[in-house]
Amino acid sequence: MREKHPGSLFITMTNAKMKITAVIPAGGSGRRMQSSKAKQYLLLQGIPLLVHTLRTFQESPVIGDIVLVVPAADVDRIQSDIVDAFAMTKIRRVVAGGKERQDSVRNGLAVLPADCEIVLIHDAARPFVSPALIEKAVDGALREGAVAVGVRARDTVKQCDGAGRVIDTLDREQIWMAQTPQAFRRVTIVAAHQKAQEDNFYGTDDAALVERMGIPVIMIDSIPDNIKITTTEDLAWAEHQFSTRKL
Ligand code: CTP
Ligand code: MG
Repeated sequence: MREKHPGSLFITMTNAKMKITAVIPAGGSGRRMQSSKAKQYLLLQGIPLLVHTLRTFQESPVIGDIVLVVPAADVDRIQSDIVDAFAMTKIRRVVAGGKERQDSVRNGLAVLPADCEIVLIHDAARPFVSPALIEKAVDGALREGAVAVGVRARDTVKQCDGAGRVIDTLDREQIWMAQTPQAFRRVTIVAAHQKAQEDNFYGTDDAALVERMGIPVIMIDSIPDNIKITTTEDLAWAEHQFSTRKL
């Protein structure tokens, strides 16, 4: 049962309205894309990749606010070129990213609105995120406290050394590939990032930082197309997907 208020989920038992903020890390340089422009600004269907992602959050009834993290040199420009130009009214803050993705996310968490209780983190480079997937992640965080979307392994997974020699064959039934969105109670994700910084620990996703605190993270089935645009081939594939979808 859902209310229509932006940024609130109706919780049947308590009538409480939880404020939900999306943190969108777009502070990378897209090295693997090998383009002169950072990949989040490359055009897809004539508009920056980043805008496709942001639009889904802007239009999601469960998202109240958006914190956008961009490369330090772009902060001022993004306010006019993205936030104003595309009427992204939910973007409350545009902040400078850091060296690693984890540093960028932490900078975003540092400026969360005071009343935010649930934080959803989503890579700018995944423009196929759907409204339903966002809602599933938010619902999961409300229920479980910490969730990540992902896909179950289809192939057999081999753990290997640097020379490709197999060390172990993992139990495929237990293997998931994690993506974003990942959603958490605010207190949990803020504490996890703080602890990681104290320990100088770098993980490859936000959930890993929560896991190392001993807090359970629950995986949620993703949707088939929620890929991260990494290479020029991904961009070409995305262009094709959008052209067939949005006709
Ligand atoms: N990101 C970020 N700050 C960084 C690095 C990455 O906010 N210091 C963001 C990217 O902009 C992207 C998301 O995190 O939206 C996922 O990172 P990735 O796909 O690895 O993007 P890049 O780091 O930009 O690409 P590459 O690794 O090829 O350089
Ligand atoms: Mg990267």
